[in-house]
Amino acid sequence: DWTAANIVDDTVRAVREQVGDKRVLCALSGGVDSAVAAALVQRAIGDQLTCVFVDHGLLRKGEAEQVERDFVAATGVDLKVSDATDRFLGALSGVIDPEEKRKIIGREFIRTFEAAAREVQAEGEVEYLVQGTLYPDVVESGGGEGAANIKSHHNVGGLPEDLKFTLIEPLRALFKDEVRAVGEELGLPSAMVWRQPFPGPGLAIRIVGEVNPARLDLLREADAIAREELTNAGLDRDVWQFPVVLLADVHSVGVQGDGRTYGHPVVLRPVSSEDAMTADWSRLPHELLERISTRITNEVPQVNRVVLDITSKPPGTIEWE
Ligand code: XMP
Repeated sequence: DWTAANIVDDTVRAVREQVGDKRVLCALSGGVDSAVAAALVQRAIGDQLTCVFVDHGLLRKGEAEQVERDFVAATGVDLKVSDATDRFLGALSGVIDPEEKRKIIGREFIRTFEAAAREVQAEGEVEYLVQGTLYPDVVESGGGEGAANIKSHHNVGGLPEDLKFTLIEPLRALFKDEVRAVGEELGLPSAMVWRQPFPGPGLAIRIVGEVNPARLDLLREADAIAREELTNAGLDRDVWQFPVVLLADVHSVGVQGDGRTYGHPVVLRPVSSEDAMTADWSRLPHELLERISTRITNEVPQVNRVVLDITSKPPGTIEWE
């Protein structure tokens, strides 16, 4: 009989059987899947699990705190935080090409995770690695044990030989809505359970142009306003994703008070979709768009223009990069 509580019980039992008294590692990203997978394994084996959170400094406002504070409070998980912001931003400095950004972020993620994994190893042999692979990922990659490597950005691939672990995939039989139900059952913060998909490279691919701390700050503020207003309008679950994009290398002229401003535009990119393969631009209420625009231009320095992306996918992608 399908209930979230039953899934939790079955999975907890299966993980205990698989793991025995061995130690387990898990990388948290801030996303739903890794959080629910980690919480399930924590429920099963407690402190035999160590989670690693690589903070690349490219998450949205409040998301790192959500992992470090709220998730830990909800689960009691043993968490090791690797604050690697400077390292990621250093490596991204001067980089404009989107694919180059992705490569650098992927590489730095592996390096940072590897260092953290070694530290955990040093405290005692680790045998298993948790991954938040879902049923659709299993199908897409043709099934088989640990065969979910097609979407390589969802996984911790590329670890050296001496850090190869056996995978635990507690969400392998589940669809996204089931994962969310399990997350709620486990008492995870609802902002995490209901988070919309967010790309691994984070805000780096929502800044068109070079990524730097000042630009990240601007985008974080604008994005937080858009998300807050969407939530207040009760439309969170009607929108698939709502990227806010900073056109950092574009200057737009505006007027504010008695003066002319020379700032940047941000783009609102709310989309509806089933699976991100195709998407349509969301017809958000004009009043909501107006509130977002007014607040962003009033509250975010150097942003003097808010534009709405009305391109479907195809031909436009969901992200701008
Ligand atoms: P696009 O922009 O191609 O995005 O329409 C489709 C979906 O994939 C997400 N996305 C990524 N996710 N690493 C990720 O983990 C990436 O490099 C990446 N690029 C795009 C995007 O947010 C959307 O959900």
